Amino acid sequence: MVKIGVINVSDRASQGIYEDIPGKEAVRLLHEYLTTEFEAVYRVIPDEQDQIEEALKFLADEAGCCLVVTTGGTGPAPRDVTPEATEAVCEKLLPGFGEAMRAESLKIVPTAILSRQTAGTRGSCLIVNLPGKPKAIEECLQVIFPAIPYCIDLVGGPHLETDPAVMKVFRPKAK
Ligand code: MTE
Repeated sequence: MVKIGVINVSDRASQGIYEDIPGKEAVRLLHEYLTTEFEAVYRVIPDEQDQIEEALKFLADEAGCCLVVTTGGTGPAPRDVTPEATEAVCEKLLPGFGEAMRAESLKIVPTAILSRQTAGTRGSCLIVNLPGKPKAIEECLQVIFPAIPYCIDLVGGPHLETDPAVMKVFRPKAK
């Protein structure tokens, strides 16, 4: 069974002050896009770099996730450390994901420039940061998702399929 990790990084959601809407939104979108069945492995953790790193390492190495999406903690505030944790655990960074999200998001909101979201690979797992607002999660995930299945192919993960009527992905033709 394909596994996809979802980590909502939020002090308040992890304390139960806020409901975990961002994490649920990410799972909803992944189910909307993917026809491949998958199990969502779910975490809600505070904005603590060591805990985010531990969760990313667990999901990539132990749980065997081919994709981990984080929500939140990408801004400039002192406790926003999700990109730092992502960079610390990834072997290769893929800055194009963040660049694409910011470029498209800037057409929607000027504050998109404040998001430091990034992506990278750890073994055969792709890790991608999304912002924390549910609306922003959809705006960003729909921009980058077309590149995700091919990236996972390239790092040796499972073949992910979508319904092209819902989400068209990009896979260059085999040589
Ligand atoms: N990107 C999109 N597409 N839509 C948004 O509403 N909000 C921005 C930005 N990126 C936003 C967005 C805001 S207000 C902030 S502060 C940053 O993401 C960081 O958000 P985060 O700290 O929740 O990760």
